[in-house]
Amino acid sequence: MKTKIAVLVSGGGTNLQALIDAQGSVIASGKITLVVSNQPGAYALERAKKAGIAAAVVTKKEWGGQKGFEEKLKQVLKENGIEMIVLAGFMAILSKDFTDEYPQRIINIHPSLIPSFCGEGFYGLHVHEAALSYGVKVTGATVHYVNEIPDGGKIILQKAVEIQEGDTPEVLQRRVMEQAEWILLPQATELVCRRIQEEKA
Ligand code: GRF
Repeated sequence: MKTKIAVLVSGGGTNLQALIDAQGSVIASGKITLVVSNQPGAYALERAKKAGIAAAVVTKKEWGGQKGFEEKLKQVLKENGIEMIVLAGFMAILSKDFTDEYPQRIINIHPSLIPSFCGEGFYGLHVHEAALSYGVKVTGATVHYVNEIPDGGKIILQKAVEIQEGDTPEVLQRRVMEQAEWILLPQATELVCRRIQEEKA
């Protein structure tokens, strides 16, 4: 029985798409069973629908703040027998209460080489703006375990990406996605799914 995966999203879902496309090849030990978005209009939900994957929307607004949001999220995950969680462009905070429920079972993709350009306020384009304004020659992406510290968990995989003359944040973001994020996230997901399978054996 494959490891049941939930992918949490907030936006366009290009990382979700990479995971969907990797099922049956790079991702052999896991099955994307559920997609949960905290944004009702996220295009990632369209991607889930096209792929025939069950999807849910859970927002802080409708569940009365952080605590209610996390309670509902836990309930939906449990109802679907979820064993591991992938944060793919997920923009909501998860408290220690929540992450402690899934020790070494939640992973996140961050678009820089942690510990550079990470933590509070470093998300989306801001990460690439910071790399360009610092003038680094190499950036990349990191997949790490998730704990209560933003981008603070143990690193699983990293991949470097060259910064080129004249890069804008948008151009750099796209290159980091294509050359690093969309490769690393399926690989890391498979590593964790396989470990969970072995633990269950
Ligand atoms: C992007 O900034 C990506 O680098 C980061 O999350 C954002 C949205 O990704 N991982 P996605 O297209 O929604 O997967």
